[in-house]
Amino acid sequence: MCFTQGMSVTLAVASFASAWYEWRSFRSWQYSAGIAYWGLEEVIQAVQHSYAASADDDYAMCKNRTNQMLTDMGAAHLVFQPVFVSFTLLSMYRKHDIEARILSDFIFKLCVLAGFWFVSYSWICAAMGVDQSLLPPATEDCPNYQYLYEGYDGFLNKTTPNQPGSACVYYAPTETGHLAWAIPIYKQSYYFPSPSVHFFLFFGPYIIMFKKPMLQVYVFLAWLTGPILTKYLTASVNEQPAIWCFNSVAQISMYAIAVRYFGIHKKPILAEFRHPGTYGEQPMTYVLRKDDGDTLPLLDLSKSDESPKRC
Ligand SMILES: *[C@@H]1O[C@H](CO)[C@@H](O)[C@H](O)[C@H]1NC(C)=O
Ligand SMILES: *[C@@H]1O[C@H](CO)[C@@H](O)[C@H](O)[C@H]1NC(C)=O
Repeated sequence: MCFTQGMSVTLAVASFASAWYEWRSFRSWQYSAGIAYWGLEEVIQAVQHSYAASADDDYAMCKNRTNQMLTDMGAAHLVFQPVFVSFTLLSMYRKHDIEARILSDFIFKLCVLAGFWFVSYSWICAAMGVDQSLLPPATEDCPNYQYLYEGYDGFLNKTTPNQPGSACVYYAPTETGHLAWAIPIYKQSYYFPSPSVHFFLFFGPYIIMFKKPMLQVYVFLAWLTGPILTKYLTASVNEQPAIWCFNSVAQISMYAIAVRYFGIHKKPILAEFRHPGTYGEQPMTYVLRKDDGDTLPLLDLSKSDESPKRC
């Protein structure tokens, strides 16, 4: 077995220590909270190791309430991950770039909304009068290939050991033997989100930030070293996301190095922000006003090269 409880504890400590170290370096609470959130994940995993079900007693611990609750806690962590990804990835740009601030405020709210969308499924479904039942567990005839879903895993050719309809954390019968999560998934509908919303918010906002190529490359590499790499480490689709969480601590270090290498944290505050306007709009240029009383005009139209068109 190559993943252990001790490794989770070590990663949790490393992640809290980095959050503290980075706080000392940058004084950005969003950035440090973004790092510490993965430490929290490892704390949850470390405790899960103590209650995880294993093949030794035919996965009896899947019936244990503590095991099920710890798995649900892991799921709750999961649905709010995009919030903390937005904290981490945009915090250094927020220091100098007004556009990044506005975007990151918006993405933050969107990710919080998505988190509550997931956790309040039953109220939403009840209010909308739609079916709120679980997806039936996958079967050998109709195997599962998606993350976390319970039932027959079409890659591993085994059925998850959870009690149908209840979550369970267990050691997957694989060579890696990392913790795996089987989590019942609600039927997706117009009102209830698919887990793909997590994928969309985790990578989507950054892959389209064409003015921030470092972020585009970073999320692409994070996808390669996360979901794609873990696919090669283990066949189990219930184990892959748990390993990805495990190596996300390393992915955060990749970000900390990239920030320093490209000096993102040292960039001067943009003196001017210009939007050229689209669809025939008038261009806008915002100019930085110093807070020391020596003020520049906030909106300086003389900076725009096209004067507003008159009709
Ligand atoms: C769950 O497992 C733990 C550890 O084996 C045990 O102490 C506890 O009593 C169990 N809880 C339930 C509700 O079965
Ligand atoms: C599961 O079954 C498929 C199809 O029979 C096979 O290609 C695959 O290698 C099997 N996976 C494992 C882990 O044995």
